[in-house]
Amino acid sequence: MRNLFIVLVAVACLCGCDRRSEAERFADDLMSRMTLREKVGQMSQFAPQTGVVTGPEGEPMDLNALIKAGEVGSVLNVKTPEEIWELQRLAVDSSRLGIPILFGHDIIHGCKVIFPINLGSACSWNVEAVKESARIAAAEAAAMGIAWTFSPMCDVSADPRWGRVSEGSGEDPYLAAKLSAAMVEGYQGEELADSTTIMACVKHFAAYGAPEAGRDYNTVDMSERMFRDRYLPPYVAALDAGAATVMTSFNDFNAIPASGSRWLLKELLRDELGFDGFVVSDYRAVTEMIAHGVARDTTEAAYKAMKACLDMEMVSGSYLNSVEELVKEGLVSEKEIDAMCRNVLVAKYNLGLFEDPFRYGGAERFAGSIYRPEDLAFARSIARESMVLLKNEGEVLPLDGGERIALIGPYISSPRAMLGSWTAFRDYDRTVTIGQGFEERFPGKVTMTAGCGPYAEIDGGIAQAVRAARNADVAVLTLGLPGEFSGEAASMTSVELPQAQKNLLAAVKAAGKPVVVLLTTGRPMALESVIDDMDALFLAWHPGTEGGHAIADVISGDHSPSGHLVMSFPRCDGQIPIRYNHKATGRPLEGTAPDPLISMKKLYKSCYLFTPDTPLYPFGYGLSYTEFEFDSLEVVDKDNIHIGDDVTVRVRVSNVGDRDGATVAQLYMRDMAASTTRPVRELKGFERLHLRKGELRVVEFVLTAEDMSFWREDMKFGQEPGEFRLWLGNHSDATLEASFTVRP
Ligand code: NOJ
Repeated sequence: MRNLFIVLVAVACLCGCDRRSEAERFADDLMSRMTLREKVGQMSQFAPQTGVVTGPEGEPMDLNALIKAGEVGSVLNVKTPEEIWELQRLAVDSSRLGIPILFGHDIIHGCKVIFPINLGSACSWNVEAVKESARIAAAEAAAMGIAWTFSPMCDVSADPRWGRVSEGSGEDPYLAAKLSAAMVEGYQGEELADSTTIMACVKHFAAYGAPEAGRDYNTVDMSERMFRDRYLPPYVAALDAGAATVMTSFNDFNAIPASGSRWLLKELLRDELGFDGFVVSDYRAVTEMIAHGVARDTTEAAYKAMKACLDMEMVSGSYLNSVEELVKEGLVSEKEIDAMCRNVLVAKYNLGLFEDPFRYGGAERFAGSIYRPEDLAFARSIARESMVLLKNEGEVLPLDGGERIALIGPYISSPRAMLGSWTAFRDYDRTVTIGQGFEERFPGKVTMTAGCGPYAEIDGGIAQAVRAARNADVAVLTLGLPGEFSGEAASMTSVELPQAQKNLLAAVKAAGKPVVVLLTTGRPMALESVIDDMDALFLAWHPGTEGGHAIADVISGDHSPSGHLVMSFPRCDGQIPIRYNHKATGRPLEGTAPDPLISMKKLYKSCYLFTPDTPLYPFGYGLSYTEFEFDSLEVVDKDNIHIGDDVTVRVRVSNVGDRDGATVAQLYMRDMAASTTRPVRELKGFERLHLRKGELRVVEFVLTAEDMSFWREDMKFGQEPGEFRLWLGNHSDATLEASFTVRP
């Protein structure tokens, strides 16, 4: 059977047509020999019982029997290279047509070497590094036999109650678009058939990041304009970067579950955006249409998904179970099935699976491809760049003076706190904890004690922590949320510190020594009520395999912190969702009252009575051990700008402190009077800069017509003439300002 495929592939290659039609010709030829069930088998993905499961367990199934029957197109969540090859061998040798299986897995922020959670890596604003992390993840996964990752997650979100913010790139569509595209390039490389690259999957299509009340899987209902302006750009950028697949979201979007939405999957995705890869549902999302209340049974659910052009069903099996009935009744045509099956076969062809089903993986190759020293070194460097220094009163950091350190808190020895969610292939014993990092970097200087658990007091824990703090020069507290409390199904109504940790912090602060808080978390937290007890606040996220080393690198001053927030940090839960790029309203607070405002008086402005409307730390914010200055902001040829023109903006950035360091120059824009309301500020350019002490650099940004365009009142994407204001600095409240006018 294998030889037959090689001949067919060779024939297809000889005919000199482009690769897509070559692949389609191959697929069509193959389909001419396939039964209806075999075709729908290609449109079906299953997981072995032992695999990682997300979502409620279904009926037990015999995967091997299905594979032998040629009814499994893809398998997800297989754990080892040996098992992958075993199942592949079964498919190739024992099924009638020997069509290879496509193995997929959630390789979300690393495979064996784990990088910071995606939200953390995004805080590096380092597009090349994010791409490199995807490349390494792909190489390790491919060595295992996995040819497809369910990443990148392109869902924009400003709601830290939603646990899945940890998997995305934050609240800003512009930055998320750049990073999502970079991840696709990293995973897929130049050539999908390369045995070290894997297919990316743009998810979750669409608008999964805006669930009502931050509750996972919840309803999303918003105007099409808002969707297109704020939520769509990262998906589009990832598709433009060539992503081979797309995953539907669990949510209903404007009253239609995404997996049954022909508007989303056909009209928008294929007809308008030109996507020609294949679409997979999320886990059981097809049959979940019954619970959504839009399908009476699994057959109707399958019918709706097929009519929406959803090519592959993940796990729930309704396609296989219903196809004969649907075709017999004339509800779905074999032509429609062919179109979906073809999309899947073309992807397999492009991956080179027909040429060699064992191109990916193999136990020996796997062993030689993981935990490469250079990849670990890279993981350490991107982890450093992901960390954000939020407060540094009295320059308590860095700890470079030989201080005696009391290292306190529930996460000192927790590998999981370093890794975060979605780390199926993690090895705790390869993960560097905070305690290990500190002991290596500050030998003989560190005393450690937990003080409390993540949520519970420990008997005598606080007293011991206070004693340790008293006997040290500085107390470093590892606080925050456990690694498993972010990701899927991890929504929270409060993102404040758990009470047990608040108590620990207050007691240690009262010991009178400077307090540094090392925050591990997968989401922004609301810290205003405790911020005064912290002299320094250092946001480590869940930094990955090399987390403990990277934290020590930055805390010690061996490296200056350089991360900048990609989600606003609220003051308190009630401000959520909170974003820098909000609309102005007709009654903006700006310029009316001092900020922060704590008022007992009604102002009749868009604000709260007792809480400022600003976040505790805004989008883009992050301190360094050195100081940066921005000046001489200039719009080149500003009096001669017309619709369609590029606008060049220049600024001088200097490192005026006494250390080398990196920062992120960020350009924000506002369209002052448009046909629709526009955000008060929008990120339109950024550049991560490493400057030696005393160094000055002139940075140039180019705003294109597209950067100034939006979904206008007439629902067309385009530019309008008028005044634009710009701000430049290293956070979204930057005050260095310029403006220009676009003439008709
Ligand atoms: C459910 C999640 O929503 C999705 O992101 C993931 O890729 C699939 N399960 C597969 O594990």
